[in-house]
Amino acid sequence: MTENASLSRAIIIVAAGSGTRLGAGQPKALVRIDTHSIVQHALRGAVQARPSHVIIVAPPGYEEAMHTEIAALSAGTDHPVRIVAGGDTRPRSVQAGLHALPPEVRTVLIHDAARALTPPEQINAVAETVEATNDGVIPTLPVVDTLQQISGEYVRGPIDRETLVAAQTPQGFPRHQLERAYANAAEQQREYTDDAAVYAASGGTVRHIPGSPRAMKITTPDDLHRARHLLASTGAAAVIPRVGIGTDVHAFEPGEPSPAHPLRLACLEWPGEPALSGHSDGDAVAHAIVDALLSAAGLGDIGEHFGTAHPEYAGAHGDVFLQRTHRLVTEAGFTIGNIAVQFQSNRPRFSRRRHEAEAALSAALEGASVTVSATTTDGLGFTGRAQGISVTAIALLYRADT
Ligand code: CTP
Ligand code: MG
Repeated sequence: MTENASLSRAIIIVAAGSGTRLGAGQPKALVRIDTHSIVQHALRGAVQARPSHVIIVAPPGYEEAMHTEIAALSAGTDHPVRIVAGGDTRPRSVQAGLHALPPEVRTVLIHDAARALTPPEQINAVAETVEATNDGVIPTLPVVDTLQQISGEYVRGPIDRETLVAAQTPQGFPRHQLERAYANAAEQQREYTDDAAVYAASGGTVRHIPGSPRAMKITTPDDLHRARHLLASTGAAAVIPRVGIGTDVHAFEPGEPSPAHPLRLACLEWPGEPALSGHSDGDAVAHAIVDALLSAAGLGDIGEHFGTAHPEYAGAHGDVFLQRTHRLVTEAGFTIGNIAVQFQSNRPRFSRRRHEAEAALSAALEGASVTVSATTTDGLGFTGRAQGISVTAIALLYRADT
């Protein structure tokens, strides 16, 4: 790598996706892994590779939020970080980033914010290989599973895995060739899944170099959980795990279920089921989680933060309780590891809406992993007689001062 080359090396961090599969109720890049968000981690890794320019492609309408998000980090870099608005597909977001490149840039790396924990060495290695070879370069991992070709419902036979790899980012290219490749793709109105495919379609040569498991893409709540573990297990600071427990019991309101006042449980509405009586909407699943989180953080209990002394929460839905509790534990320096909930009652039948309930609870907690199991009590007790429900939640928090 020559001094000149490193002076004209830009990294475009595409962070404009909505994070549908993560389902955190906000753009994925802004979701916290520990005390830092996905985009903050991505930027921290990127600047350690000493690029001359950094461009962050933000979700349209979130440019200001992105400025605030990265203010502390970009203050420490030699070159200001530019923020531009993305498009409605990844290739369009990449193009928005390319349009913002200053003229002197020679090498450009396109990096997914979602690969937030990518080691800076990997970013550097991609850039140096582009500069040494003038080819496109992508980091890859070997495929470990056996791959099968299918046709309809039948398996046709294995594919030779030796010839296949899984592609990561950053993907690096000589700037002008990549711009030409994107212009060609736009002209042909074709959208490719990644930048190397765009580059190759336009006749460019692409090499591969070793990637890293830490460059995993955060796509689902499970991936976020894994990223938190990766950080917790290798973080420089001590990680202090803490568990907490919460239970909540509510009676069903007597009489026939009222369409005007449906059951609300686990942040979902359950038409045709009798409502629970309670100070708020009686969402016993949300309330048990609130108590478990507060207990783990040593912040008291639900009565203290949401009880009758706080009339503003009378009738509030479970997601409002969860969002505020998430803020309280985050402000106290904690990150949620996971939450396990067990629900006991004959009704409602939980299993068919389990995934929906887990997704709704997770969304109210910025993507934290929440699992819910349900059981009946063999006809015994108030839960067995369908007079009410009982919920127990356990929360694992950790404090990671990375
Ligand atoms: N991306 C982008 N602009 C888009 C779509 C995606 O900048 N219109 C970025 C994402 O922010 C992410 C990377 O491309 O860093 C990889 O995309 P993906 O993991 O699919 O993220 P999302 O599109 O946000 O997630 P989902 O597909 O679940 O909605
Ligand atoms: Mg996507």
